[in-house]
Amino acid sequence: MGEVTRFGVSLDEKLLRQFDRLIDRKGYANRSEAIRDLIREALVREQWEIGTEDAVGTITLVYDHDTRDLADRLTDLQHAHYESIVSTLHVHLDPHHCLEVLVLRGAARTLKEIADRLIGTRGVKHGTFSATTEGRGLR
Ligand code: NI
Repeated sequence: MGEVTRFGVSLDEKLLRQFDRLIDRKGYANRSEAIRDLIREALVREQWEIGTEDAVGTITLVYDHDTRDLADRLTDLQHAHYESIVSTLHVHLDPHHCLEVLVLRGAARTLKEIADRLIGTRGVKHGTFSATTEGRGLR
């Protein structure tokens, strides 16, 4: 850590109690550590919103393997974006369902577009996109 600055925060008592319970559940050592994490998260999100060129993200998809052509369509889409997709993990969840986790790297905007297309593919039961960066410049 660089130089440390202390600052005061005024909070509604009820909000503070809720925050303390959250800190407890998440196992933070103290409020400062929890607030640092929240600030870092907001800064990473902000980096994404302004469109970082070296973003990293993961896409998680759950789909029914029996839906006609779905697995092929998802694979075709992934091949169309092979330059952005670093790795994929496929798990056969049960006789019918597949779970796929993709790791992507590239321009934030591109990754978001790929995620939207995959998650929006008809027959995908559940999809999430998680965006991150290596947090250059963040402590
Ligand atoms: Ni499968």
